Amino acid sequence: MKSFAHFILFVMVTLSFTLSTASGQTRNVGRGVKVTWYGHAAFKVETAKGKVILIDPWLDNPKAPSSARNIDKVDLILVTHGHSDHIGNTVELSQKFDAPVVCNSALAAYLTGKGVKKTIILDYSGSYEADNVKIVMVHADHSSTIEDGGARIDGGLAAGFVIQCENGVTVYHAGDTGVFGDMKLIADLYKPDIVMIPIGGVYTMGPREAAKACELLNPKCIIPMHYGTFPALTGAPEEMKGYLPVQLKSRVVDILPGDTIN
Ligand code: NI
Ligand code: MN
Repeated sequence: MKSFAHFILFVMVTLSFTLSTASGQTRNVGRGVKVTWYGHAAFKVETAKGKVILIDPWLDNPKAPSSARNIDKVDLILVTHGHSDHIGNTVELSQKFDAPVVCNSALAAYLTGKGVKKTIILDYSGSYEADNVKIVMVHADHSSTIEDGGARIDGGLAAGFVIQCENGVTVYHAGDTGVFGDMKLIADLYKPDIVMIPIGGVYTMGPREAAKACELLNPKCIIPMHYGTFPALTGAPEEMKGYLPVQLKSRVVDILPGDTIN
């Protein structure tokens, strides 16, 4: 009887594991806030009231799903830093949807020169609020030089973004960064529900450092990003999970490009 109970437990655990890793699932973690991954660091956050925010929209990345071409509404674009894998398709998307770009001042000057009509300049701890959705620029430990046709242009300081939605759900996109102790400040101040954390290594945290970041941030839900895009970005969600402290209650939702959680 006891072994039968163990078998049932095994089936249940296997089933829940399958549901939490399969592609195309939606999961009840965002309380009406939908988060879609387009591969690499590119995300769409749709608030409960329908405001659509793109972050680092490189929609031509090698892992981008075909659905990345079907975006039909954009209210705001956030760009964390000046590297091309984060600026991505910002200029054309901003023009097509008449969407302002939130970024640092050096990047804003560059993007304006490329034809972006409206930028909203923030610096660390600064915020922008519209329709009861608040965007806060936060620290990141990373470089930000813009490379354009052989020229190297100042891209200001790299950043992350905290998005506080109308219904209180808070999303933190870390951008490209190493782990830093002040992630604890981000946790204390904003209490993020959902965090997008780079885990690929080389240019950002790898799995071990990312696990430490998750421990400092203590969110409800962790979405690993910035891995697998190129062969060099070897960090994998399973490896990060192995470094997470057992007492941490955060749930790792290792979605695939094209997946949405809500
Ligand atoms: Ni970068
Ligand atoms: Mn990057």
